[in-house]
Amino acid sequence: MPALAKVNLGLKVLYRRADGYHELRTVFQTISLADSVELEFTPGRCSSIEAFPEIADNLVVRAAKAVFEAARIRGALRVKLTKRIPMGAGLGGGSSDAAAVLLALPVLAGRPLPLVKLIELGGRLGSDVPFFLLGGAAVAVSRGEELYPLPDFPVRYGVLVTPDLHVSTPDAYRALQRPMCSEAGGRLTLGEKLNYINSFQALVWEAEGWPGGTPEPPGFENDFEPVVFELYPRLKSIKRKLRKLGAECAMMSGSGSAVFGLFRRREEAEEVCRTWTGDPAYSIRTVNRSQYRSLWWRSLAPHVNGKVWPLRSRYAQ
Ligand code: C5P
Repeated sequence: MPALAKVNLGLKVLYRRADGYHELRTVFQTISLADSVELEFTPGRCSSIEAFPEIADNLVVRAAKAVFEAARIRGALRVKLTKRIPMGAGLGGGSSDAAAVLLALPVLAGRPLPLVKLIELGGRLGSDVPFFLLGGAAVAVSRGEELYPLPDFPVRYGVLVTPDLHVSTPDAYRALQRPMCSEAGGRLTLGEKLNYINSFQALVWEAEGWPGGTPEPPGFENDFEPVVFELYPRLKSIKRKLRKLGAECAMMSGSGSAVFGLFRRREEAEEVCRTWTGDPAYSIRTVNRSQYRSLWWRSLAPHVNGKVWPLRSRYAQ
């Protein structure tokens, strides 16, 4: 299966919650850059999970264990990962790999799990894992795991620049120094909370219309940029360079370090990518939800029953 990367088309971090996570407003969008995940499942009495290459604390292995347990699967699973999505880049690579296992393993083992269970397992593995069960464009709130699908946008073409910099997500959140908000004794006033609800409404309404009129994607800004750009000024100059070369919008994804630019025309994006010097650059396009699902149906075609989502196993009893 392909495990696609995502970018954030804008990201607002509101406040720190009692559970230590931050309350977000963002729009996730899947893009064409992808890892590849191969699964080989042999039913049997004993259970084992092997993953290649071996990565410490691999989210893919944790996802497989979660599915084995939730679906009461027994057998031998071998997972082969081919990484193309850089790690620590804000592109959700590890989360997408994990979601691929959540979607595919129940199909191969003939033990379907209800979507509500997959979302729960995904949310426990990481805040942006549930998004990859959905794909396309979606507004995300809460810690990023609460999702509202947006209608499919027309495809946009872009350039993704991935400097060899690993930004620690927890450190980036800490650097924002957001105020604390807890149910009891939180520092936020009712007025501020209402502002957050209004900001969510505005985000959804604006996102729905994009990219019809405005060149900027919904969300418009990434709150992480000022703090991460201060630590790594190179990222700021990548953003500036993309704008100068004609990107309608250029933005860092998530907590960084990848920076993407979206262009009016495909040829423009491809030319910028071809002539980019310095950091690795990828030619990308947005992948909407129907395309995302087609990729899945195509790669699991021999094992699924009909074009329904989530995928239905043909081995299910
Ligand atoms: O959920 P995930 O494991 O991807 O998050 C990694 C880290 O990023 C968390 O441990 C937390 O420090 C930070 N985070 C956060 N607020 C979020 C998402 C992540 O503070 N909404």
